[in-house]
Amino acid sequence: MRILTIIPTYNELESLPKTLGRLRSAVPASDVLVADDNSPDGTGQLADQIAAEDPQVHVMHRKGKEGLGAAYIAGFEWALERDYDVIVEMDADGSHRPEQLPLLLDAVDQGADLVIGSRWVQGGSVVNWPFYRQLISRTGSTYARIMLGLKVKDMTAGYRAFRRTTLEKLDLNAVESVGYGFQVDLAWRVAKMGLNVVEVPVTFVERELGSSKMSGNIVVEAMLNVTKWGLTDRWRQLTGRGQR
Ligand code: GDD
Ligand code: MN
Repeated sequence: MRILTIIPTYNELESLPKTLGRLRSAVPASDVLVADDNSPDGTGQLADQIAAEDPQVHVMHRKGKEGLGAAYIAGFEWALERDYDVIVEMDADGSHRPEQLPLLLDAVDQGADLVIGSRWVQGGSVVNWPFYRQLISRTGSTYARIMLGLKVKDMTAGYRAFRRTTLEKLDLNAVESVGYGFQVDLAWRVAKMGLNVVEVPVTFVERELGSSKMSGNIVVEAMLNVTKWGLTDRWRQLTGRGQR
């Protein structure tokens, strides 16, 4: 099973080396693609230095800050041009513990088309995450689940493993690519295709270095998107008009 872990970065100079080191020892079989949006703090150049020493680490230099979704979509396309069987989403800041990646990979092995490292299923948890962030995540996920009629508990989670064929089936250009909306849209599209979405419990550990790039307006925008998607989907079901 050829594995690629995509790590989107924006100003992660402090946290990237640690997370990369942990990933390379936790799952040495996984290649890595750092998708950097021209970070002003030099993350891309640091990634180049690491890649010069490690043939399994690759770097994609992007023009400017376009959101983590756009970086992941570019990373998915890069992966599909090569023969990877499993493609992983992982944050650079250590919130997604590399030591738990085998849990996601095992679930792919057992037949999942998309595995979500979930905070909100039995056994999932968060560490040092401010209460307001937990509230946003839980309410956002519950709202999305109801509006979109899905069973997924942690809709906005960003720790995921995709079977290659799942990404091949998706129209990546149509995916909403900004912030939480990206994660919700992707989970919804995969579930709507009738594919096997599996949640495995993980521990999400808030970052110790650097700062979050998520902002309030991205959350509001995602909620508005979910409302729009949910209502149009119900309208289509009622009128029997074409698929999304
Ligand atoms: N290339 C690129 N461009 N990377 C970005 C950008 C961007 O514009 N914005 C953020 N990133 C990278 C960060 O460098 C980090 O590696 C990862 O995306 C997550 O960014 P954070 O700023 O740490 O996100 P968060 O901790 O607030 O949100 C996390 O939890 C959310 C809720 O579960 C992320 O995992 C989100 O994806 C997730 O939806
Ligand atoms: Mn984070």
